[in-house]
Amino acid sequence: MTTLTKTEDAPAPTGPESFLSVRDLKVQFSTEDGIVKAVDGLSFDVERGKTLGIVGESGSGKSVTNLTVLGLHNPRSTTVEGEIVLDGKELVTATEKELEQLRGNKMAMIFQDPLTALSPYYTVGRQLSEPYMKHTGASKKEAKSRAIQMLEKVGIPQPKVRFDDYPHQFSGGMRQRAMIAMALMCDPDLLIADEPTTALDVTVQAQILDLLKDLQQEFGSAIIFITHDLGVIGNMADDLLVMYAGRAVERGTVREVLGAPRHPYTWGLLTSMPRLDGDIHEMLTPIPGSPPSLLNPPSGCPFHPRCAYQEQIGSRCVNERPSLAEGRASACHLTAEQKQTIFIDTIKPRLR
Ligand SMILES: Nc1ncnc2c1ncn2[C@@H]1O[C@H](COP(=O)(O)OP(=O)(O)OP(=O)(O)O)[C@@H](O)[C@H]1O
Ligand code: SF4
Ligand SMILES: [Mg+2]
Repeated sequence: MTTLTKTEDAPAPTGPESFLSVRDLKVQFSTEDGIVKAVDGLSFDVERGKTLGIVGESGSGKSVTNLTVLGLHNPRSTTVEGEIVLDGKELVTATEKELEQLRGNKMAMIFQDPLTALSPYYTVGRQLSEPYMKHTGASKKEAKSRAIQMLEKVGIPQPKVRFDDYPHQFSGGMRQRAMIAMALMCDPDLLIADEPTTALDVTVQAQILDLLKDLQQEFGSAIIFITHDLGVIGNMADDLLVMYAGRAVERGTVREVLGAPRHPYTWGLLTSMPRLDGDIHEMLTPIPGSPPSLLNPPSGCPFHPRCAYQEQIGSRCVNERPSLAEGRASACHLTAEQKQTIFIDTIKPRLR
């Protein structure tokens, strides 16, 4: 079932440049145990040529959000509410046929595991060229030439020969590159990269990230980059959205959020992250407790059962959901002054 409701939370900033605009998105799954509120009132924008990073612990709704943008959820067991507007086109109410067309031309996804996207039964070349022919009406010869060109661009050696290989004949890093080539075949305006490098070793990871940056410069695509790794995001993204329990808890430019974070959850993420130059014996402070059940999320602020600062506010944290204001914002009842003082006195000294 797909329905539209009016926006409830304060909207994220919208500029004339906004290419993708998501407003008060709610995604719920019907399961045997009840309704899973995987995304619960999320708003964000992505500008053309810019990268939005999305970070958050496992289960915070990063993948579900982005699969919903692409229309890849199961409509029988999933309820989607809110607005997703891509280049002026509303996607929540779009038909499957329209979405399929858009997935070919306007938006594409790079998955964590290339085997999700690549079939073992067909050659890499065929998997790159067939969708291209379908979406653009190109001939077989044109599609092959484009595929070889893209394989070369992503750094596959001997692309003409490799065109006829099956995915299992590629190494892990090469499969990841082939999937990036596949995502870029139709020159998408929006590229969603969901943990594109976590399965790879550090050197290959760095190469793939450089590649994505180069390709963005060349094609001017908007990118959504999902990761657990705050170190990677600093280099990759322009803007940053921190997600917790299906909601955005902090938003701003990467510089703002990483330089002067304002939400206790973001503080927790940063102080639990190993420093690049860190001593291997350094004490990391994991966020206490575990992410909440989305079947029965906590009342008020969803972070309150794990938050070290809840005592400073009291029952309001338990009873009242903090909203996320426009622009640079964090969804927390602490005052701006409290956030600044806590950050400077107790968090900053623990960061680099
Ligand atoms: N089809 C589904 N049916 C029921 N629950 C689902 C379904 N898909 C996802 N979920 C739940 O929705 C929540 C959000 O999942 P999601 O995959 O978006 O998390 P994530 O932030 O991408 O995590 P990770 O970092 O581990 O990839 C999780 O609690 C997950 O169990
Ligand atoms: S609203 Fe309260 S519980 Fe939530 S993050 Fe802020 S201080 Fe912590
Ligand atoms: Mg995920």
